[in-house]
Amino acid sequence: MRQIVANEKVSLMHYGIREIVDVAQKLKELDGSYNFVMENIGDPIAKSWEVPKFLKELIHEEVDKAGDKVFGYTHSRGKVETRQWVVEYAKRFSPSSTLDYEYVLFTSGLGAAISAFYPMLPAGMRIMQPTPSYPTHASAEAFHGGSMSIFYNLDPDNDWQPDLGHMEEQIQAHPEVVGLLIINPNNPTGAVYSKETLEAIVQLAEKYSLMLISDEVYFRMVYNGYEYAQLTEVAQGRVPLVVMRGLSKDVPWPGGRCGWMEFHNVDLDPDFKAFVEGVKKRVLMEVCSVSLPQFVLPGIYDHPEYEGWLASNNAELEQNGNAIAEVLGGVKGLKVNRTNGAFYMMPLFEEGVLNDKQTLPIANDDARAFLEKAVAKEGMPLDQRFAYYVLASTGICIVPASGFFSPHAGFRLTTLDRDPVRRKDTYARLASAVEEYLGSA
Ligand SMILES: Cc1ncc(COP(=O)(O)O)c(C=O)c1O
Repeated sequence: MRQIVANEKVSLMHYGIREIVDVAQKLKELDGSYNFVMENIGDPIAKSWEVPKFLKELIHEEVDKAGDKVFGYTHSRGKVETRQWVVEYAKRFSPSSTLDYEYVLFTSGLGAAISAFYPMLPAGMRIMQPTPSYPTHASAEAFHGGSMSIFYNLDPDNDWQPDLGHMEEQIQAHPEVVGLLIINPNNPTGAVYSKETLEAIVQLAEKYSLMLISDEVYFRMVYNGYEYAQLTEVAQGRVPLVVMRGLSKDVPWPGGRCGWMEFHNVDLDPDFKAFVEGVKKRVLMEVCSVSLPQFVLPGIYDHPEYEGWLASNNAELEQNGNAIAEVLGGVKGLKVNRTNGAFYMMPLFEEGVLNDKQTLPIANDDARAFLEKAVAKEGMPLDQRFAYYVLASTGICIVPASGFFSPHAGFRLTTLDRDPVRRKDTYARLASAVEEYLGSA
């Protein structure tokens, strides 16, 4: 190469959710008898959540009705009628919404929206991330910023709610922060935020002239008596707001690759409006995002069976999550919060219970040798070491909390397993693995 092309900023990007899959693959090559239970990724399809029949019918009807159009490009920013539906939908929750369809941008999955969004900020400007954070946001933000993200704490001793005092301290300490990211319901913690919490965040954004970015990909998946408070309503007419939503989770259609951004309150601040024009231009460069889901999207959410179907899924998630929390909550050394939305849980280790001598038995000699070498890597976080041992010893694949830029050691699991026998077995085995590991040294 004429110049160095390896980009050292790549070291700021992490996606622990998938990185552990490489370890599982290597173990399987060494010992073909592994039968992994993949609790690393929130893919409802992989966990047997059915695609509703009405969605399949809508697809057939749309292909018949729209014909070959569904195979073509849509408008670069998204099918106009679908963006207009998004505007009308926003008004159902926030009647005074002034959202304009020209400020709704469709992307090929929400991941693509996240990747398009951060690079459009001027160099040096930062969006504060929650910690633990969803790694796509934190990685994209850090890569753009050229250094680790600036974080505000989510508080495990307060049901994983944002620590608003810490948020304000960090805003004051970092004048380069121009916005705050909120993920609600939260991945990886499963927390749901109250209207009062959202109000307090909006007040901070007002006080320090910040924009809010609200990842709401799980907003329909709330239970345990919680209700979803709409930030669009709380923030209406008050602060620049970017809402991110998608089809991957509640429908569920993760392979459809359909996400979108809504830019609310653009007229409040000409600088924000100019920034949004930049994001629009960036999305224009993509030519168009996946077409078919955009054709059927309004029909899905307005389908007479949708609400009932969603309520039954949420009831099942509530039951699963509470059963898992009960088993893991009884394990000495772990701190567990219930899952109240989305389908993740992040049990934490109590301070000081992990060390770098602990182990679990691994039956196969080659697999054990591979794992011992892997965990000997300098600087490996203690919770990653734990997750590797659990994987190699039990076949249960969880993601270490350090993979979510977490300051606390722990792990994230999904609450998606629909098979009660397997679920009971998985979490009983995980509970005894924690006990055995902590007691081993
Ligand atoms: C909080 C959050 N945002 C965005 C995404 C990405 O979703 P998509 O499948 O639409 O790219 C995910 C996926 O797990 C997520 O958990």
